[in-house]
Amino acid sequence: MIASSSPFSFILFGASGHLATLKIYPALYVLALKKRFPKEYAIVGYARTEMDDASFRKLVEQSIRASMPEVTEKVLEEFLTHVFYQQGQYDSEADFSTLAKKLTAIEKGWKDTVRVAYLSIPPSVFPQVLHNLNAGQVRTDPVPFRCIVEKPVGNDLKSFEELREQLMTNFREGEVYLLDHYLGKEAVRNVYYLRLANPMLERLFKNTLIRHVEITASEPGGIEGRAGYFEHTGTFRDMFQSHLLMISSLLTMRLREGEGTLIESRKNALEQLYLPPAAHLNDIVLQGQYAAGTVDKKPIVGYRQEKDIAPESRTNTYIALKLQSRTSRWEGVPFYLRSGKRMHKKETRISIEFQMPFNVGEGAKPNRLDIILQGEAGMRFHLQTKLGGSEPKFRPLLLEDPLVCFGDCLPEHGLLVLEAINGKQQWFLTFEEVRTAWRLLEPLQVHLDRPETPLFLYPAGSDGPEEAKMWIQKDGLQWLE
Ligand SMILES: NC(=O)c1ccc[n+]([C@@H]2O[C@H](COP(=O)([O-])OP(=O)(O)OC[C@H]3O[C@@H](n4cnc5c(N)ncnc54)[C@H](OP(=O)(O)O)[C@@H]3O)[C@@H](O)[C@H]2O)c1
Repeated sequence: MIASSSPFSFILFGASGHLATLKIYPALYVLALKKRFPKEYAIVGYARTEMDDASFRKLVEQSIRASMPEVTEKVLEEFLTHVFYQQGQYDSEADFSTLAKKLTAIEKGWKDTVRVAYLSIPPSVFPQVLHNLNAGQVRTDPVPFRCIVEKPVGNDLKSFEELREQLMTNFREGEVYLLDHYLGKEAVRNVYYLRLANPMLERLFKNTLIRHVEITASEPGGIEGRAGYFEHTGTFRDMFQSHLLMISSLLTMRLREGEGTLIESRKNALEQLYLPPAAHLNDIVLQGQYAAGTVDKKPIVGYRQEKDIAPESRTNTYIALKLQSRTSRWEGVPFYLRSGKRMHKKETRISIEFQMPFNVGEGAKPNRLDIILQGEAGMRFHLQTKLGGSEPKFRPLLLEDPLVCFGDCLPEHGLLVLEAINGKQQWFLTFEEVRTAWRLLEPLQVHLDRPETPLFLYPAGSDGPEEAKMWIQKDGLQWLE
């Protein structure tokens, strides 16, 4: 069972923001509920918004209550006594010094304290914060320090390199934790562990047997009031640059003995992904944006009518992308990745369709393995069995089992924060991985940003643009349901 053994201060920059209130406070409360924290710890929010400890505790409490059906009052009450707030500017060294003094006062008498700074702020503010963490002595030797930065790290290859430089200038190697919350999901980690623990599956994962792979991440949700973040990010950067490429790497990476090899293998697999040769980039990538429609019988406005979105916005909310891997096992197998907002259902799924060497009879379909990571998580083998009668006619035979987490299950941000406190880095991204991902996707990003690149509209509540169906049909395939 993972828990924090040393006292720690968790300093959350952007404490008034969306990510903080939607994900981080509820995750920290769950860790307290599950007794993963030591006796001595502090959650210190930092932001420009005018608040004191009492009003910040109210905000944290509300965000926890809003995110779960019930809370344990005693645990919540005790948890809130560890919560503090420091109001300040991100570009003020003096304000960071005040924060450092506050931390020192809170930590008085603690032994072996770890300080964790979580940057839940827009990337435009990173440089000032990174500088002031040192200048204001929030990071101060010999206190062990971690700085957590959310994906996407940068907005393109150039801004990634600049941010990397700033991080390397301000921190030592091993102090930086690049967080992709998908790597905190048990189901996503399980893509690797299912392969490791079931050698039978590995025998099937071969280009001589597989026809194609589809990785879908769809959600009925829209931008949920995050116009500021999403308008500059879009589905391509938000979902592909890290989440879907990481899932592809976990599926195709070489399995080697020993936990220490995980990062190396994952990185190598990512490096082996490439854009297949094509007459035009439109054959490799397709973008869409949701228009007005209906989700769960509720009318939904189109993306351009959302609050704080420009009426002529060309931000993509749907992407379909074709990739291949150079690894010897997967070479030649096309990978189709797609992700969309305001789709008809919530699902993150890997589907592996196997080849059908010859036609065995009516009704027989190719074998398929689905690993469903979100939505109704589960594993499904699609087989065929013969119908009664003298003719070879077939019906589907489905072997399925839920893939819900059993055992020590924690919210993704909670698990990753605990791992960061404990200095465990293997489920965080490396700079090399982020660079490789930006390099791979950069030509497509440039292409998608061009005004002449088509942006196909699709009604909210549908399964994406009609053009995406024709796009995959050109390869003789259909999106798998
Ligand atoms: N939200 C998500 O689901 C999500 C997903 C993936 C990655 N991320 C990443 O996580 C980080 C936080 O995201 P978020 O959605 O929580 O951001 P956010 O709500 O837009 O911003 C967080 C806080 O930063 C401060 N802030 C906002 N705009 C600012 C500006 N222009 N200059 C200075 N301060 C500003 C605000 O606090 P004060 O005004 O009180 O200082 C705000 O409450 C970002 O790096 C984002 O890229 C978020």
